[in-house]
Amino acid sequence: MARYTVVTMPGDGIGKVVTPEAVRVLKAVGFDADYVHADIGWDFWVNEGNALPDRTIELLAKHKLGLFGAITSKPKAEAAAELSLKLRGKGFSYFSPIVAMRQRFNLDICIRPCRSFAGNPLNFVRQKKEGSFEEPLVNAVIFRQNTEGLYAGVEWTNPPEDVRRALASHPKFKPFAAVAGEDLAVSVRIITRPACRRILRAAFAYARKFGYRSVTVCEKPNVLRETSGMVEEEAKQVQKEFSEIALWSTNIDAQMMWLTKNPEDYGVVVATNLFGDVASDAFAGLVGGLGFACSGNIGDAVAVFEPTHGSAPKYAELDPPIVNPIATILSAAMLLDHVGEEAKARQVRDAVAAVVREGKVRTYDMMRLTGGPKAIAQGAASTFQMTDAILSHLL
Ligand code: NAI
Ligand code: MG
Repeated sequence: MARYTVVTMPGDGIGKVVTPEAVRVLKAVGFDADYVHADIGWDFWVNEGNALPDRTIELLAKHKLGLFGAITSKPKAEAAAELSLKLRGKGFSYFSPIVAMRQRFNLDICIRPCRSFAGNPLNFVRQKKEGSFEEPLVNAVIFRQNTEGLYAGVEWTNPPEDVRRALASHPKFKPFAAVAGEDLAVSVRIITRPACRRILRAAFAYARKFGYRSVTVCEKPNVLRETSGMVEEEAKQVQKEFSEIALWSTNIDAQMMWLTKNPEDYGVVVATNLFGDVASDAFAGLVGGLGFACSGNIGDAVAVFEPTHGSAPKYAELDPPIVNPIATILSAAMLLDHVGEEAKARQVRDAVAAVVREGKVRTYDMMRLTGGPKAIAQGAASTFQMTDAILSHLL
């Protein structure tokens, strides 16, 4: 029996294309694992009224390690219209299986590394004084709190009377007190100290493990005094456990500006849910975008690794497929790091780096081509050719 079992959840669209590619790489690098398929996504909403079936939850609870592709989700009315006839009117309502998975297993720590690979034509470049260009090497890792903050889901349009009363007890609510209910929307930003501590400790521990000299907290404490204030307060406490690592602090808005001035200055960055979502997409844009953006969702017991991109339905049926498998392959490398197989993780990243550096095999996104069936004739590598090239560089 293998040492690990990876629960593979290809999901929808190109999730079904890229997940098996990452498994090919994990097998080739000699990872001692079995793989079990688990159902997730649109078909299971349509036919079972649940996009995250209980049997998938059971597999994750048992095996603790997940590799997830992507799912398709649609607005409420469309979701209801596609539900199978036999299930209609029985109280089913669509709920995102990703959010459900994060909540069920408290996958509160989201890690999104954004590292540039030399030779990637999508890398950020900067003009120098004399007009030539330089390409700073970006090596940022965003730690995004995954379960609370502005995405906690506590929100109303037309808040109920008791909520309005509670809001009215705050002096700053005065200018809004006369707004009609249906004209008033409120989303609550909830931050808890224990969750702050967990994400901060995870970020500092990562910095220590991988030799980063600083951790940057990216919030807005001068305005969001209570919530961002609590994050900063906890960061100062946690830093005491990691005295060799400096604590820096930036404001999310300023960070978005500095990002394109000196992205090489940032290493481990920690932020609450929304700011972390923004910062990780922004950094990802400097290093190749969705074809390269990998992530891990880490809880106490369970960890799930996935590319940041979605199911890209318009490319799902192309034969051969054209989407870039690198984001998912790098997510699989994060899985290797997570279980302590750092040498294998490095082999995978080195193989990706070698292919990118050589520049002979490039998917359509790396060539800045319009995606579609013509891309291959225009010189783009297929998804399979990209994986093959990576496999050929595994030492
Ligand atoms: P998307 O990420 O699926 O695709 C946006 C565009 O990015 C694509 O059209 C394509 O041009 C490019 N792209 C994405 N992945 C790529 C890859 N591996 N290689 C090369 N190019 C790539 O986002 P979109 O179109 O907004 O959403 C499509 C569906 O995916 C929706 O149903 C949405 O709800 C869902 N979604 C799911 C996510 C997840 O499963 N984690 C995340 C984001 C969206
Ligand atoms: Mg996002």
